[in-house]
Amino acid sequence: MNRVRGKLILITGASSGIGAACARRFAADGANLVLWARRRERLAELGVELERGHGVAARLAQVDVRDRAAVNRATAELVAAAEVPDVLLNNAGLASGLAKIHEGDPDDWDRMIDTNLKGLLNVTRAILPHMVARRRGHVVNIGSTAGHMTYPMGNVYNATKFGVRALTEGMNLDVAGTPIRVSSVDPGYVETEFSEVRFHGDKERARGVYQGFRPLTADDVADAIAYVVNLPEHVNIVDLVIVPTAQRNVYVVDREQD
Ligand SMILES: NC(=O)c1ccc[n+]([C@@H]2O[C@H](COP(=O)([O-])OP(=O)(O)OC[C@H]3O[C@@H](n4cnc5c(N)ncnc54)[C@H](OP(=O)(O)O)[C@@H]3O)[C@@H](O)[C@H]2O)c1
Repeated sequence: MNRVRGKLILITGASSGIGAACARRFAADGANLVLWARRRERLAELGVELERGHGVAARLAQVDVRDRAAVNRATAELVAAAEVPDVLLNNAGLASGLAKIHEGDPDDWDRMIDTNLKGLLNVTRAILPHMVARRRGHVVNIGSTAGHMTYPMGNVYNATKFGVRALTEGMNLDVAGTPIRVSSVDPGYVETEFSEVRFHGDKERARGVYQGFRPLTADDVADAIAYVVNLPEHVNIVDLVIVPTAQRNVYVVDREQD
């Protein structure tokens, strides 16, 4: 049964990877979309593809989730147009760098904390009150297996994703007494632009992350998110962990030897 058709779904970080795959999947299921990210041209191309391909509406805005004023402005525009999302997918996020804590770059730490934690908070603080007022809505946070177990040099990224897990739990408590759902989907290795961003544009090094085993695709994760969102309103997946079969835990991966 398709419970997504006709719903309005806001996706942060929709310009690439998991966010873009979710936009395509939800559009194919007949949802209307609000797509936010910093790269406007990417969003514009995706918007045209979805509107032409599926006849749904895609409302785009260049929003850096770290910029609280920009988040509030974009939200005010939605509310003024009576376009309060039924689903908020807090997906925008990144890893920046991979270094021991005593050798790490504080600018990388700022980027991760400001995006993965404070960005998620900025968007949730803006959108959730409108869901609470309507007594309707579903927030899906994209965490990570990195939020369940630390790995060498993952330190600050791990901390942000542990934090996302705590926020999912806390937000669920805070909306008690309403029918609103809060879920977390926590993927392991997914081949997207994630590693290229982590290694500051080093494509070669990024490719190495996924060598010797079959990682998840963004579409695999979008399938899982679509399952979570499509459940009946009395069913809430609090935490869904999805990994490639080769990934046995956060840093034990069955890799073929050359
Ligand atoms: N790939 C993995 O292995 C993996 C595993 C577990 C969890 N995750 C999580 O999955 C989520 C999506 O990552 P991905 O793998 O799809 O990586 P990706 O391909 O690099 O996509 C990240 C998205 O986040 C957006 N973004 C980053 N900073 C932003 C900001 N300040 N404001 C607004 N949007 C921002 C990017 O868009 P712009 O650059 O255009 O702003 C992009 O659309 C992240 O939360 C990540 O931590 C990924």
